[in-house]
Amino acid sequence: MHKISIVGAGYVGLCTAVCFANRGYKTTISDIREESVKLIQRGASPFYEPHLNGLLKKAIKSGNLRAILDREGAVLDSEITFITVGTPSTLDGSVNLHFVKNSAREIGGALRKKDGYHLVVVKSTVPPGTTKHVVKSILEKNSGKKAGKDFGLCMNPEFLREGSAIHDTLKPDRVVVGEHDERSGETLEDFYKDFYNGRVPILRMNPASAEMVKYASNALLATKISFINSIANICERVPNLDVTQVAKAVGMDHRVNPLFLEAGVGFGGSCFPKDVKALVSLSRNLGYRPSLLESVLEVNEGQPKRMVELARQELGSLKGKKVAILGLSFKPNTDDMREAPSIRIIILLLREGASICAYDPIATENAKSIFDGKIDFAPSSIECLKNADCCMVVTEWSEFKTLKPSIFLKHMKRPIMIDGRRIYNPSEFSRELKYIAIGLGQEQCQEKNSHKGDQA
Ligand code: UDX
Repeated sequence: MHKISIVGAGYVGLCTAVCFANRGYKTTISDIREESVKLIQRGASPFYEPHLNGLLKKAIKSGNLRAILDREGAVLDSEITFITVGTPSTLDGSVNLHFVKNSAREIGGALRKKDGYHLVVVKSTVPPGTTKHVVKSILEKNSGKKAGKDFGLCMNPEFLREGSAIHDTLKPDRVVVGEHDERSGETLEDFYKDFYNGRVPILRMNPASAEMVKYASNALLATKISFINSIANICERVPNLDVTQVAKAVGMDHRVNPLFLEAGVGFGGSCFPKDVKALVSLSRNLGYRPSLLESVLEVNEGQPKRMVELARQELGSLKGKKVAILGLSFKPNTDDMREAPSIRIIILLLREGASICAYDPIATENAKSIFDGKIDFAPSSIECLKNADCCMVVTEWSEFKTLKPSIFLKHMKRPIMIDGRRIYNPSEFSRELKYIAIGLGQEQCQEKNSHKGDQA
């Protein structure tokens, strides 16, 4: 069984390490952040992810997982090293490869001291060409060795969703192996065949294609979301049109599939916004204007604005109005606030003079550091709703789905609900309160539109 080292104890690195270790692989994870390493050593995850803490404790207890600061030591004590460091966006949307380059330097330094074959695997999301033209040359320079001869090199994108990362690591739809040379590809394929007992399709290709698979996958999923949000924006302007009914029927065509067709406040998180921007930037630099992808971003930026417009349509001026925000994280089952649509919505509402009270089951601590005393945080949904002029559902946590119209009626000053995630039944909610939702044509549109028609 191969010994594994993982450079970068972020989301992907830690979830991957825990899964490898619990399947019996001796795994060493290393990171430059001392605090994260100490937490992991104690069996505590630095971030929230369902099932991770239990599995992490188990892995540490079994002795199969250790966390250290010494990256060189980690590489020397393993046969395969995965690079899982972050690749943040720069101001122009392109990718900052600083952490990848640093890791490659350190791994290269370790390889200089190591005898025998070692495989380096880039798992971080990097633009096409990075593994071959950036990582390879840094590794060769710092190790004094040749890729393909003295050590192996692969690109192996990950497709983990936050909130389902353990499931996605253990049961992926496919594994993509971008190989620098045949032996590298063979080694990684054998490792994954063993890890998955041969039950997962493995696709081998060159590193640049593997790098592009990740961007293309995320761009397509983001496109589906912006597509359905565009349809939602049309539905809202036609009486009684409902995007959820439309999406359900469209998604039943097996050529489309129902996933990622949920209209709402738009996509956020650590991947979609960053990766689509990176692809746009890459494409422009190559001389091709990717107008479809530009529109995907434009539609996404419009969704938080639309939530505020809907509030304004109902309440008039938002100055002094109290808005209750249910949900802050970019999606349920995570405390991650990166690029969360809630941030844009709250900033826009504050600009209009509204006062905000927000509740999130687990992201409140992370949100506090963003809003820094500018908004109130409630300890529960009910506390959040008290005396509110309107309520916005921004993240579809399951605990919000069970709230009945009577709860809103009882606690809010004005029972106005703006459902940004389409979690409530429109007929049930419209009976008792003013129910407005992304992608739902209002009945009164009929009157407005027919007036316009009369005038024309
Ligand atoms: C995504 C990819 O799914 C994963 O394969 C990749 O490795 C990393 O990026 P993640 O960011 O964890 O994963 O979340 P995901 O579940 O894909 O959702 C991303 C965003 O899209 C969220 O803000 C979510 O609320 C939004 N979304 C998703 C919609 O608005 N509608 C949908 O139908 C689906």
